[in-house]
Amino acid sequence: MHRTPKPRARQSEIPQNELLGERSEALDVGAVGAGRHNSFAIGVDRGRGRARVLTIERASIGRGEQVAVDLPLKKALLTGITGQDGAYLAEFLLAKGYEVHGIKRRSSSFNTDRIDHLYEDPHTQGRRLVLHYGDLTDAANLIRVIQTVRPDEIYNLGAQSHVAVSFETAEYTANADALGALRLLEAIRIIGLQSRTRFYQASTSEMFGKVQEAPQSETTPFYPRSPYGVAKLYAHWITVNYREAYGLFACSGILFNHESPIRGETFVSRKITRGLARIHAGLEQCLYLGNLDALRDWGHARDYVRAQWLMLQQPEPQDFVIATGEQHSVREFVERAGEHLGMNIVWSGSGIDEIGIDTRSQKVLVRVDPRYFRPTEVDTLLGDASKAHRVLGWKPELTFAQLVAEMVNEDMDHAERDAIIRRHGYRVPTRHE
Ligand code: NAP
Ligand code: GDD
Repeated sequence: MHRTPKPRARQSEIPQNELLGERSEALDVGAVGAGRHNSFAIGVDRGRGRARVLTIERASIGRGEQVAVDLPLKKALLTGITGQDGAYLAEFLLAKGYEVHGIKRRSSSFNTDRIDHLYEDPHTQGRRLVLHYGDLTDAANLIRVIQTVRPDEIYNLGAQSHVAVSFETAEYTANADALGALRLLEAIRIIGLQSRTRFYQASTSEMFGKVQEAPQSETTPFYPRSPYGVAKLYAHWITVNYREAYGLFACSGILFNHESPIRGETFVSRKITRGLARIHAGLEQCLYLGNLDALRDWGHARDYVRAQWLMLQQPEPQDFVIATGEQHSVREFVERAGEHLGMNIVWSGSGIDEIGIDTRSQKVLVRVDPRYFRPTEVDTLLGDASKAHRVLGWKPELTFAQLVAEMVNEDMDHAERDAIIRRHGYRVPTRHE
């Protein structure tokens, strides 16, 4: 239930920066009156163009004046809260004072590793992280969760997000990634939350696919190259359509690749840092990769979730490209990660016979396995995020070198722990894909 916001003080008594803070807001008082128990005022919430009824204790506030109010906690609902971005965004929103609701899928084993540090026992009074079972393929479930939570902001981060896997599970990917977005948008309409709930869609640079120009910006034509890219393109355009057709505050963030130590282990960045760290710790011998020539614009997920939030705080809904504007190859990612582990990886041979040799140990550490090639590849991606710089004031804070270093360090910790366990005679599971 929403708490009625209480006026705290006159604007003149409140420092300007506090007025602009996330939890307090200036309202223009439109009318003042008295009920049986309280005086009240009707204020206009300028940020959202909505009227709010304020209960006031001091009847001295007059029409046309401004008051600052403590806002009730903002509520955000995240699909994909158990994924990389969901975990970083949940942490970010909790630090901003939000009540965060997340949709998690039923799984036969625990699937909340990335958010376990944020977990609050359901018996805790006033907890600010609440998980709901659900699935993007289940419209009835989404309607019920949204109706229960009545969120101020929805971040649709949930997806079958692996490009290579989307060639194997094309129909499911379309169902979850394309229709999932539609189901959420429809739920907002069905429940009548159009004027309350802001919607963020996790669009992707994969939509640029076979790129039509470089670098890619909000105006670059799309040419998706996988069932994942095609599904995301539907979600992107349906978000635009609902914004235009029904006036929803709905934005798409066209995010380029972003990674972190909690990146899924089968995306190439994490596969490299984890694989080389395990080789370094003596747990594995060789890392098998696909297309070493692919070029990506890799950023850090922590920077990118900040951009997601910023998009929903703007006066008007718009779409934004989020990228670093810097490009590296898979081969270069391997070299950088190796350097961080004291390896000097050089390349020899070509095509599927290319190998990466560590000149220090003289061992072959990297080989090519064609099973990681894709039927249609996205060869190169490079983003132009100048609109985000200009309008959102967003710039990435973490560099490529810092990203690689952080990922390698964390994977080295995991590998060393596994090596200790193995040295003591216990089995360490080896997980591959
Ligand atoms: P991720 O780590 O793969 O997380 C995906 C999340 O979606 C997980 O929580 C997953 O749940 C959930 N999910 C999958 N299928 C679902 C379904 N049918 N119903 C409900 N939830 C489902 O992805 P990410 O890297 O955090 O990316 C977040 C979003 O941004 C995704 O939509 C992705 O496509 C998009 N994106 C990512 C990047 C990037 O470089 N990371 C770039 C552009 C766009 P489980 O944990 O149970 O699997
Ligand atoms: N996964 C993987 N595994 N990719 C490899 C490998 C390998 O062994 N070897 C080479 N690659 C190449 C892929 O062919 C691709 O060109 C590049 O490395 C990056 O692959 P991924 O890390 O799997 O990411 P992605 O670019 O296909 O997709 C990611 O970024 C998109 C944004 O552009 C995902 O996070 C998508 O969800 C996201 O939308």
